[in-house]
Amino acid sequence: MAEPTLRPRTDGHMKGCLQALATVQAADRYPVDWPADPEGWLTPPGMREAWVAVGDSSVLGHLVLAPAGEALADAVGLPSERLVSVARFFVTVAARRQGVAARLLDKAVEVAATDGLRAVLQVEVGATGAIRLYERAGWRHVGAAAGDWRTADGRVAQMRSYLAPLDRSS
Ligand SMILES: CC(C)(COP(=O)(O)OP(=O)(O)OC[C@H]1O[C@@H](n2cnc3c(N)ncnc32)[C@H](O)[C@@H]1OP(=O)(O)O)[C@@H](O)C(=O)NCCC(=O)NCCS
Repeated sequence: MAEPTLRPRTDGHMKGCLQALATVQAADRYPVDWPADPEGWLTPPGMREAWVAVGDSSVLGHLVLAPAGEALADAVGLPSERLVSVARFFVTVAARRQGVAARLLDKAVEVAATDGLRAVLQVEVGATGAIRLYERAGWRHVGAAAGDWRTADGRVAQMRSYLAPLDRSS
């Protein structure tokens, strides 16, 4: 595979993002149910930025930077105005274990730092690959709480909160 390029998401990427999300939803139930408005799901309210990893002209990975809610801010112990949340984060099944997610995550930390913000995120405990990725990238587990949704196997979601390391590129 050619080395993917990281780019700010444009309208022209949306079709590829939806195709990529379809592979992820089928494989991982992320999200648990296919959204009624998938483009809207990929563009949460107040979204600051969205980034894609593109390889061989197809979208391989995606994340957004969105406002961090008060619950996440409380878990982290910083005001929500100083935080930005990584969300809608996935890599297509075919492109996995090649460092695509790690590069996108580093980009999120870097662009957050450029805006004077610290990146945070929440992850469900069953997403063990994602948790490994965050901890290996130096993100700090700072809190845990029950979510307001159920996982594909019917459990009440158990969410872990993570705080990004300080930007290494600055
Ligand atoms: C989690 C996810 C984004 C990882 O994408 P990826 O591009 O395969 O991740 P990377 O190749 O950058 O992985 C970097 C490191 O993270 C860890 N890691 C990633 N996926 C892993 C897995 N499935 N199992 C164990 N460790 C994993 C490993 O340490 C890996 O390094 P290595 O391959 O040298 O061992 C992808 O599996 C995915 O889209 N999952 C479904 C959606 C999801 O869970 N999103 C996160 C929501 S919070």
